[in-house]
Amino acid sequence: MEVREQVQKLSEIDTINLLRSNYHKTALGKSNGTTSPTKDFLKWLNDNPEIKSKIRIVLDYGCGKGRDENTLKEEFPFYIGYDPHKDFGYNSSKQILRDSFDLIVCNYVLNVIVKIDRETVIQTLLKFLRDESIVLIGVRQDKYEAKDNWIRFQDGYITTRPTFQHFFTKKEIFDIFSNYAQITPLNSKGAYILTSKKSLEK
Ligand SMILES: C[S@@+](CC[C@H](N)C(=O)[O-])C[C@H]1O[C@@H](n2cnc3c(N)ncnc32)[C@H](O)[C@@H]1O
Repeated sequence: MEVREQVQKLSEIDTINLLRSNYHKTALGKSNGTTSPTKDFLKWLNDNPEIKSKIRIVLDYGCGKGRDENTLKEEFPFYIGYDPHKDFGYNSSKQILRDSFDLIVCNYVLNVIVKIDRETVIQTLLKFLRDESIVLIGVRQDKYEAKDNWIRFQDGYITTRPTFQHFFTKKEIFDIFSNYAQITPLNSKGAYILTSKKSLEK
């Protein structure tokens, strides 16, 4: 059955559950190389060695198939990959999210999950900011156009796979985080460094 036909028959919550069951399908393999937010962040850290020297423990939050694993392991002493999809073989227990980390990398997670799940991840990122960690986020931007055969759903689209895509604007990132964080756009491709306002006041 075509995705459009399938979705038309589902309630909103059943559609959300269908998309949730496919979140893992959005993860690309290691052969795609290190993600661009992580590459650009490492370049930025080279210009900020005093910040880099303080980063010891890194959480790759929604690490997928571990595209950033090798690079992050090369750069920092301790790496923890977390992904709720157990088959990827990383840490999948939410318990780990209660810990503190020096750096949290959250690449291409917020844009592939529906609003209600995005809010939970955002709350966890805000908790990390209160812990005074550095948070790196990478999101798909509004300039990436949806395909004609994608279906509008909530504030994003259902793809033919069917997975979910929400396109972020820079304004949205600032609206979400600017009360809590100093936001440094890293590039024009949707990568942002968030640092706690509190830690900067020190
Ligand atoms: C597009 S992939 C990104 C993977 C990796 N960060 C990368 O850039 O290659 C999105 C990942 O987010 C994971 N994910 C889905 N819901 C999540 C949640 N609530 N918290 C953390 N990760 C989640 C999925 O299982 C999937 O592996």
